[in-house]
Amino acid sequence: MATTKASSKDLSNLFHDTLKDIYFAEKKILATLPKMAKAAQSRDLKAAFEKHRGQTEEHVARLEKVFAVIGKKPVGKTCAAIMGITEEGAEIMDEYKGAAALDAGLLAAAQAVEHYEISRYGTLRTWAAELGYNEAVNLLELTLSEEKETDAALTQLAESAVNVAAEAA
Ligand SMILES: [Fe+2]
Ligand SMILES: [Fe+2]
Repeated sequence: MATTKASSKDLSNLFHDTLKDIYFAEKKILATLPKMAKAAQSRDLKAAFEKHRGQTEEHVARLEKVFAVIGKKPVGKTCAAIMGITEEGAEIMDEYKGAAALDAGLLAAAQAVEHYEISRYGTLRTWAAELGYNEAVNLLELTLSEEKETDAALTQLAESAVNVAAEAA
């Protein structure tokens, strides 16, 4: 019966579903960052991708702790958004291979990823607080701040060397 099904879909279900979404996304990002680091021409951009790959390992581990807080096994659920965003990144790597604008394109793709993560972690942190998962709030907050720092670092790279190089070519 539809009403029974709808009533079982409360905020804790939504929290769990969204946790599965970002868990899938983080694992996808973990697999994608080494490819982006390899493709990047600028040494600084390569270093930024490699640094964030290390942080992303932590993000996966923190999410596993959040699953434990709510008494669930860490399981991912295909996230169509991250599949689309990483697919666009792969297109840029392919289409701009060897081109001066490659790094600018990689930066743009990486920032789309960070913005997606910032959106998800912001939402999850708010819901965790509403649901009284206090330990989860702290874990989600830590990752959220690293995603924001990464986004800011990428903006700085975009405004300095990378875009200047693309314009000069
Ligand atoms: Fe992350
Ligand atoms: Fe990230």
